[in-house]
Amino acid sequence: MRAEEVSTVLIRDEEQADHSQVFEINARAFETDLEAKLVESLRVRVEPLISLVALVDERVVGHILFTPVTVEGSARSGAALMGLGPMAVLPEYQGRGIGSRLVEEGLARCRVLGTEAVVVLGHADYYPRFGFEPAKRYALRYKSEELDPYFMVLELEPGTLKSVSGDVHYSPEFEEV
Ligand SMILES: CC(C)(COP(=O)(O)OP(=O)(O)OC[C@H]1O[C@@H](n2cnc3c(N)ncnc32)[C@H](O)[C@@H]1OP(=O)(O)O)[C@@H](O)C(=O)NCCC(=O)NCCS
Repeated sequence: MRAEEVSTVLIRDEEQADHSQVFEINARAFETDLEAKLVESLRVRVEPLISLVALVDERVVGHILFTPVTVEGSARSGAALMGLGPMAVLPEYQGRGIGSRLVEEGLARCRVLGTEAVVVLGHADYYPRFGFEPAKRYALRYKSEELDPYFMVLELEPGTLKSVSGDVHYSPEFEEV
């Protein structure tokens, strides 16, 4: 990754005027528009929400969302956990470090909100570079064992995962995807 490629990227909170571009990014980056529609419904129904966009030359080219998740069956209830996703970068802008900038800035926002840990269901080769580990290590599960390799967690508040384990639930909107 070259330094000048990263320096042209601006990360900021998503604004209402970005919504149609964010829809397009998700619809083009994923195989269908299901994730794009998911983002639209989460935006109006879920809070707190962290929704960031990446701009290159004033064009919105990437998007990341974090939404609260709950853990069923945990020794400690009410832990502040967020789920990363969906995230997407326009295909022609991928591989330039834009996704990484979105993840890093998003995690920084999570810390400001007091988030204790962040989970993600995604590419097993991508998220470990940000410190994510298999959630199974901490007895955190999502749906079925088949998803174990793709379900990861990052502890933001040290020690959180000693007392937080069980079945992770995203907002019901995710079930529609
Ligand atoms: C995943 C995604 C957001 C990454 O954005 P990006 O701007 O290309 O990310 P970066 O430039 O920071 O990082 C690129 C790295 O991501 C890796 N990557 C991209 N897609 C990947 C995948 N499907 N599986 C594993 N790694 C992947 C690339 O191999 C590259 O690795 P390298 O740095 O070792 O060369 C982007 O590829 C995308 O929009 N994909 C389609 C939608 C998607 O899958 N979203 C994530 C759902 S979990």
